[in-house]
Amino acid sequence: MTPRGTTGPERTWVLRTDRTTYAVRLEPGGRWAEPAAWGPHGAETGPSPLDWSRRTHFLTPADAAPAEYVPTGLRPFTGADLTVRRPGGERGTWWTCTGAAQDDERTLRLEFTDDVTGLRGTLHYAAVPGTDVLLRWTELTHTGSEPLHLERLDSAAVNVPAAGGARLTYLAGQWAQEFTRHQLDLARGRFAMDSTQGVPGHAYAPWLAVQDADHPDGPATPTYGVALEWPGNWHITADAEPGGAVRIRAGRLPHEGAVLLRPGDTLTTPRLACAFSAEGLDGLSRVWHRYERRLAGERLHRTRKVLYNSWEATSFDVEADGQLELAAVAADLGVELFVVDDGWFTGRHDEKGGLGDWRPDPVAFPGGFDAFIGEVRALGMDFGLWVEPEGVSPASRLYAEHPEWVYRVDGRPATLVREQLLLDLGRADVQDFVVATLDRLLTAHRVDYLKWDMNRPPTERGRPGGVPAGGLDLDAAHVAGYLRVLDHLRARHPHVTVEGCAGGGARIEHATLARTDVVWPSDNTAPLDRLAVQYGYLHAHAPHTMSSWVTDAPGVFDPRPRSLAFRFVLAAAGVLGIGADLRGWDGARRAEAAGWIARYKEVRDVVHHGEARLLGGPADATCGVQYDEDGGPRTVVAAWSTGRLDGAPLVPGRAARLRLRGLDPAARYLDRATGTAYSGAYLLHSGLPLAWSADHDAELVVLARQ
Ligand code: DGJ
Repeated sequence: MTPRGTTGPERTWVLRTDRTTYAVRLEPGGRWAEPAAWGPHGAETGPSPLDWSRRTHFLTPADAAPAEYVPTGLRPFTGADLTVRRPGGERGTWWTCTGAAQDDERTLRLEFTDDVTGLRGTLHYAAVPGTDVLLRWTELTHTGSEPLHLERLDSAAVNVPAAGGARLTYLAGQWAQEFTRHQLDLARGRFAMDSTQGVPGHAYAPWLAVQDADHPDGPATPTYGVALEWPGNWHITADAEPGGAVRIRAGRLPHEGAVLLRPGDTLTTPRLACAFSAEGLDGLSRVWHRYERRLAGERLHRTRKVLYNSWEATSFDVEADGQLELAAVAADLGVELFVVDDGWFTGRHDEKGGLGDWRPDPVAFPGGFDAFIGEVRALGMDFGLWVEPEGVSPASRLYAEHPEWVYRVDGRPATLVREQLLLDLGRADVQDFVVATLDRLLTAHRVDYLKWDMNRPPTERGRPGGVPAGGLDLDAAHVAGYLRVLDHLRARHPHVTVEGCAGGGARIEHATLARTDVVWPSDNTAPLDRLAVQYGYLHAHAPHTMSSWVTDAPGVFDPRPRSLAFRFVLAAAGVLGIGADLRGWDGARRAEAAGWIARYKEVRDVVHHGEARLLGGPADATCGVQYDEDGGPRTVVAAWSTGRLDGAPLVPGRAARLRLRGLDPAARYLDRATGTAYSGAYLLHSGLPLAWSADHDAELVVLARQ
């Protein structure tokens, strides 16, 4: 590390991602770092767009500065990133830079030390190769002698120039409505999202996109985004500050209100992924998609098989004959993987029982579970199983044997949510139990696919016997246990494909996505609702992670039925599955379904590995997603009519159109299914024609560049 920060010439460090530069410099006093540039390569040449006059009135310079990370004390008024309480109750930290280390243009460490408390904060920056994502996190090391309580311990602060105020795009909802895209313009003031549910939650995704409100979203709009890699409690705030800047702060939210840092301890915050695109929200989504393809590593190339899931068809009424009836039809349609959802284990006849006792129900499978699996496999399909490792039913044997394993506050009743309690996965003995249970299930039976569900938040977050003085960091302990078990699954059972789920999409963030193969964004599979969920989801997450089922219509949620084609094209926009009760499908419906499954199999490599572009959204009469094959000639377009048909075909009208993007204007694109040839210029300018009618409300178009 180089010199202790003092007054002197400003020092700037430049980091580069694929197409992006992020430059950081120290303020002249060395008390904090601030960004000098964030944008396309070359954006660092010239004065920082975040430069301010350094005139402050009634505040301190640190309050007005676009600081990268600054403690309460140094920044007393406008929002700090770190708040440290000393034993006497004092909350101020004043530190200066005591070192900087940059190995290359991909990594940087800046170290700040408070000589009075002995607290050292190291700001980490790491550009992710092959992406436009920069990871930021902070390491807090206690070199002093008195215990410190961290009341706020964010990962990073991110500053974005926005002369016209902030336009914020965020993904919000509730159970069965996750990832709905919302936007607001914030001229001044604070916007906040959080979760205290022990998981990211259904209400908000830990993801935010920021633009200058003066510049409408479009293919040339600079767009910035953050996403927090943390499957526990979190918060993100955005402050539209005077002087035309937006300051975003993000980090974990300790359940106990503060985390104890003992002398000698080091705490590492979760990583905040920071993304930039010069091409608007659509471009930003592709930055995140590329990043998530990278997170998947080698497993990206594992074919996401067409699955059947039993949940909507049979709910808790799982028994061998009914499942095999479904399996036989599924196999005929071309389904490759049969997943038995909730209800296969002893005591699980409804929400009240069974969780924790992970043994197949001998009454439901009278010929034996392995014989049942064998029959499914004999149909030519892989076999998958649902589990909820953190769940425990009060009536289970597990709970009778280990009542101390659930979260509980001594002397208080434990609240039931969905009739169940939650195991304290932060405990090593609980982790060992979960690991041993999954090992047993995955070795005793031929299981290729595991759906990990979680259906309740922690409520009374304590431990029997009480929490030791100084507290425990229960949220971080649960996260560590969850990640440990997922890591174990990958290492010990690499052939098993893992689906992440938490009552739908309540636990989707980068730590989970790096350790699972697909996730379940929402329990709502009703076509128009799902369209909104998937549209929001694809802003933040990649198509290869997005599990989606075709279910019966009208379904559980949305009374607005759409065609089978609509539902198949919608599910084909990610990882196709079927959740309908196939026993009720007649021959014609089954034949149509088989046709869609075959078409999907032909294009899924493009959908999962290509570059995706969002073409309009659910509020538009026609919308779609375009997928361009990586290094190949195919462009796949999934298109939907949301209902406004302009009277067609009963009144004279013209085709709806989707203007494609990113194509070569001079190339020729052939739709082999219809024999129609288009120039790239035509598809970019006039758009792909889609002749919707009352019974034709979706299409999957494959164009081959010639
Ligand atoms: C919630 C999940 O999101 C559903 O898909 C299903 O697995 C149920 N839990 C089962 O209890």
